[in-house]
Amino acid sequence: MSTVLRVELLAKTYKAGDGDFFAVKDVDLEVSQGEFVAIMGPSGSGKSTLLHLISGLELPSRGTISLCDINLTDCSDDERTRVRSEKIGFVFQFFNLIPVLSALENVVLPLLMAGHKESAIHNRAISLLTDMGLGNHLQKRPKELSGGQQQRVAIARAMLANPPILMADEPTGNLDTKTGFDVLRLLQSACRAPQRQALILVTHDPRVAALADRVLFMRDSEIVGETHNPDLATNPENAAQFLYTIQQKWEVLMS
Ligand SMILES: Nc1ncnc2c1ncn2[C@@H]1O[C@H](COP(=O)(O)OP(=O)(O)OP(=O)(O)O)[C@@H](O)[C@H]1O
Ligand SMILES: [Mg+2]
Repeated sequence: MSTVLRVELLAKTYKAGDGDFFAVKDVDLEVSQGEFVAIMGPSGSGKSTLLHLISGLELPSRGTISLCDINLTDCSDDERTRVRSEKIGFVFQFFNLIPVLSALENVVLPLLMAGHKESAIHNRAISLLTDMGLGNHLQKRPKELSGGQQQRVAIARAMLANPPILMADEPTGNLDTKTGFDVLRLLQSACRAPQRQALILVTHDPRVAALADRVLFMRDSEIVGETHNPDLATNPENAAQFLYTIQQKWEVLMS
């Protein structure tokens, strides 16, 4: 299976007082096409910083990031912006929709700004929103939509360019349990054919992480462990076992 993301010895330092501290330290990571990777870790362990580095929203202090064999760390600012908009769709916890724009306008805005013609993306945006059950809400502004509907608009925006990698930073953190799982199912469906997008998702909820193919655990800016989803075809009880393993590791991590 092809590797869509390769990260080597990635680190980010920030200034604190007289010295620097690591927000992310020596992270190595490979993610394949169609793979769903969850990241868990205590508050402040570096999860969001890692996602921001991979998606080019922040520049690393050292290390390399390669998206679909393009080395992001070698790119000029303009190239990095272009690669980022083609290769990555980002879903935020607080949706980050623009209040004065309609749902449809929010979805197409990033690609319009990247120079795409409206006629080329308009129909796909409508069909994505319609597939997500928002066909009757295209002209509504974010404040006229529920939290779950707003997050679906944000997911449609992330998916419009059909990027090979989707990133989601606690996308269900602001939603009730049922709405959160509806949103998750939508994200998860992107990992399957025909899109086969990779999904990297940060969560504090072991039940959410248990849907992933692989869970990475972060602590004090480093990846300190990982666990793989066992083959459900071999034994359906593996799902319960996987959730139990994640819960155990999560408790140790938080202790
Ligand atoms: N722009 C910044 N400038 C300085 N320090 C920062 C900056 N962004 C993050 N940090 C620090 O880096 C560390 C990691 O932050 P990060 O936001 O990645 O944590 P997190 O794991 O996403 O936490 P949470 O679960 O609360 O969202 C924290 O100590 C944070 O205060
Ligand atoms: Mg965070």
